[in-house]
Amino acid sequence: MRLLNASGCLDALTAPEVARSFDAFVTKTVTPLPREGNAPVRIAETDSGMLNGVTLELNLSCPNVDEAPESAAEIVAACRAATKLPLYAKLSPANWDIGELARAVEAAGADGLSLVNTIRGSALDERTLAPKLGTAVGGYSGPALKPIALAAVYACRRATQLPIVGMGGVMTGRDALELVAVGANDVALGTILFRDPDAPARVRAELAAEIAALGVAAVDDVRGVAHEGGLELVTAPLAITRIE
Ligand SMILES: Cc1cc2nc3c(=O)[nH]c(=O)nc-3n(C[C@H](O)[C@H](O)[C@H](O)COP(=O)(O)O)c2cc1C
Repeated sequence: MRLLNASGCLDALTAPEVARSFDAFVTKTVTPLPREGNAPVRIAETDSGMLNGVTLELNLSCPNVDEAPESAAEIVAACRAATKLPLYAKLSPANWDIGELARAVEAAGADGLSLVNTIRGSALDERTLAPKLGTAVGGYSGPALKPIALAAVYACRRATQLPIVGMGGVMTGRDALELVAVGANDVALGTILFRDPDAPARVRAELAAEIAALGVAAVDDVRGVAHEGGLELVTAPLAITRIE
């Protein structure tokens, strides 16, 4: 399992040492032509996550850009025709049947899936009740996204055998482990990097501790176990002490 940064959540020029602490670096979405950014405010905190109205996307799932869902496979097909480079399709958890969408982008030539992008959310100012974000509605990320990400990775793992980069609310090694258990091959950290730039090393250490506590040799050994009823629990034999 490789640990990556989630797109748009790490500026490698500002924090090169954080970028180097990952196994691979993911850029923010790039576009062939420049695009105007959204009006500020672009980031707002909420109780269980973060809202962003940062745009500049050309992926298949950005909540800050309007696009028809049926175009996802067409976009992948067009990119496939233009490059032989590995092509990962980043999907939105807001799709009713994300497994079906995964099959569609696989048929269109995707080499892998990135799951999941943010989901649309909003937050209001405490006193004025005005939207906190300049765009009023933005991408909601962080801890609240984890169960949604688990469900999306679970569904896509059943639908295709494409490699999956799992992300969405990963704060701890346990969160990363659970994404692997539902079928992720690699895991990415996003919102946590705004709060804890040392998260890559911490998550790795926590993951190693989780693996040791479960009594499995490597994180790869838990991949997909959620589809097989989970790990078999081995009860340690009782130590019997003779009392004289
Ligand atoms: C500020 C911000 C900017 C983002 N920009 C992009 C982007 O440019 N392209 C993209 O595919 N996803 C983008 N995302 C989504 C993240 O890559 C990730 O899919 C999402 O935040 C879920 O992970 P998390 O809960 O760990 O943050 C952005 C997320 C945030 C918070």
